[in-house]
Amino acid sequence: CQDSRINEIKSKIRVVPNFPKPGIMFQDITTLLLDPKAFKNTVDLFVERYKGKNISVVAGIEARGFIFGPPIALAIGAKFVPLRKPRKLPGDVISEKYVLEYGTDCLEMHIGAVKLGERALVVDDLIATGGTIGAAIKLLERAGAEVVECACVIEVPDLKGHERLNGKPLYILVESC
Ligand code: PRP
Repeated sequence: CQDSRINEIKSKIRVVPNFPKPGIMFQDITTLLLDPKAFKNTVDLFVERYKGKNISVVAGIEARGFIFGPPIALAIGAKFVPLRKPRKLPGDVISEKYVLEYGTDCLEMHIGAVKLGERALVVDDLIATGGTIGAAIKLLERAGAEVVECACVIEVPDLKGHERLNGKPLYILVESC
């Protein structure tokens, strides 16, 4: 990597084999959070990319998008909008189902959280099949927002997650070099 911060971030992500089930190599970002410098560098790198881009919404995906999204939102002067799993948000919501390896799941967003024409960034820790971020994009677009980019710390390679993002740009921090 050109930026030594990215190599350090990568080295702090723990890979746990066979979690949560056999054959899955779980990318564990909690070990990155234990290192304040690497955690701050992660946030800073996203902020450097998105500051001054007229983004007024950072939409974070439950659960780990709630770790990286809010500090990015604060630093670029955007609001933070949580996209939650079903029946967690107390107000009126719009919902978007997506397909998982086995079965389906759903993301919800409060109606009124986003205004027509707002420029939005989607944040999560990881993209695998892209189903989750794909649903986040649909929610934001149904609310009239413009999704500028989707940002993740890491990806599971070879799953072609970007193909489920309806052409929206995807930025992967630790693979960007
Ligand atoms: C993980 C990850 C992403 C999603 C990516 O979350 O944090 O949100 O999977 O998978 P996809 O690209 O195949 O859709 P998980 O579903 O484990 O939920 P959690 O964060 O609530 O534990």
